[in-house]
Amino acid sequence: LIFQLVLCFRQPGEPPVENGWIPYMGCALQFGANPLEFLRSRQKKFGHIFTCKIAGRFVHFLCDPFSYHSVIRQGRHLDWKKFHFAASAKAFGHESMDPSHGYTTENLNKTFLKTLQGNALPSLIETMMENLQSVMLQSNMLKSSSSEWEVDGIFAFCYKVMFESGYLTLFGKELDGDKTVARQQAEKALILNALENFKEFDKIFPALVAGLPIHVFKSGHSARENLTKTMLHEKLSKRTKISDLISLRMQLNDSLSTFNELSKARTHVAILWASQANTLPATFWTLFYLIRCPAALKAATEEVKNVFESSNQKVDPKDPKLVLTREQLDDMPVLDSIIKEAMRLSSASLNVRVAKGDFLLHLDNMESYRIRKDDVIALYPQMLHFDPEIYEDPLTYKYDRFLDEKGQEKTCFYRGGRRLRYYYMPFGSGVTKCPGRFFAVHEIKQFLSLVLSYFEMELLDSEVKVPPLDQSRAGLGILQPTYDIDFKYRLKTQ
Ligand code: HEM
Repeated sequence: LIFQLVLCFRQPGEPPVENGWIPYMGCALQFGANPLEFLRSRQKKFGHIFTCKIAGRFVHFLCDPFSYHSVIRQGRHLDWKKFHFAASAKAFGHESMDPSHGYTTENLNKTFLKTLQGNALPSLIETMMENLQSVMLQSNMLKSSSSEWEVDGIFAFCYKVMFESGYLTLFGKELDGDKTVARQQAEKALILNALENFKEFDKIFPALVAGLPIHVFKSGHSARENLTKTMLHEKLSKRTKISDLISLRMQLNDSLSTFNELSKARTHVAILWASQANTLPATFWTLFYLIRCPAALKAATEEVKNVFESSNQKVDPKDPKLVLTREQLDDMPVLDSIIKEAMRLSSASLNVRVAKGDFLLHLDNMESYRIRKDDVIALYPQMLHFDPEIYEDPLTYKYDRFLDEKGQEKTCFYRGGRRLRYYYMPFGSGVTKCPGRFFAVHEIKQFLSLVLSYFEMELLDSEVKVPPLDQSRAGLGILQPTYDIDFKYRLKTQ
């Protein structure tokens, strides 16, 4: 306790400290209840930077977007790996992926960049488009008579379509050849089980990252173990059309690591989680706001129609073979703005770096602060996303917020008359920026293009309110809605 008390005093040159009331936990509870409100009130009291004690650690929150640069650029004083590797090992139960710990020499960042970006994208996009169409138009999604409306929750619908399509795209399908009905049903059961296990495990994810042991959560724990069993190399090697990401990771697990088979499988569960946990709620918010806003729906439908028409493609649910190239996907500014606006309103990620040693952090206003070794520096971009000086009327959905006068991507945003370099950060920042971000935006655009082409969609209650964000996942990415919203859909008559 004496040690703690000594640490709690602010030293000259250090940011002001907010200790919170509870020893050890510090501000954790207040922060967790409503991070945005908590940070705004402390910013008002202390200014651009202040320190909170959260679960025994000193966390310096940097609130001035013009100073983000000093944390985001890859400084020699800041470590980003420590936090990520530790969180992943804790949540998924694999041994450390940090090469300095000696279990593997794989450079994960390199693996991700090689298999999720650049030349790897076209084949991911192509496979995803096929999978989306076959999942979306399969018999259990539609009433037998195509003119009848099907009712579902928007979240439930997005979950079903995106989870199965994304899963098949990364982890492939059962080996071809044996296409009996029984095999197809077994494949379907595998995916549905994976979806249920994923949901159950995802519920406890925030608690695991916060440090609670998985044994406390019986069903979440068994869900993770069930997922792990499906990802054993022995099982994955029986699948076909596995993505470059998973096949390279399997190869490197086998050649560069000393992981046992279970640990190898756990590293794949981590990738399944990373590829789905944010994409699913992001797809929900995008579709929800889109259906609710007639102007957005009109503009998006027109953009999609033009893209397919200009490449002479016919929308036919009986022969679903629509294709979108990477170039076409990159040239859909309306969908781009629609996705950005939905993510601006629902993202709550925390960007974290750990100080490798004592150093001086220089801010934009020429002030400098002393940071101690092992302290955490955190950015909370929701503060940017909801800043009324940057985004006028920040709580209102404006589908064209990210479009300029020419209808192209808008990149000029200002605060206090100064142009901002950082104004939109749902994918994190700098070296830890999500390596799957291009694929993520492409797959949501593909999903939207297809639902807009194949389906008519309406909210059951056209006046429905926006569901509140579930704050229990604040800090981890895109927040989920606290409840689902019903809509109805049916095949368009072409
Ligand atoms: C990491 C956001 C989709 C793969 C992250 C991080 C964020 C994020 C905030 C942490 C960055 C940091 O700590 O600074 C999102 C959002 C998505 C999305 C908002 C969808 C809308 C995807 C997809 C994939 C993916 C589809 C893969 C196919 C990863 C991986 C990491 C990661 C592998 C860990 C990177 C590392 O630790 O080096 N993502 N992501 N993400 N994401 Fe995504």
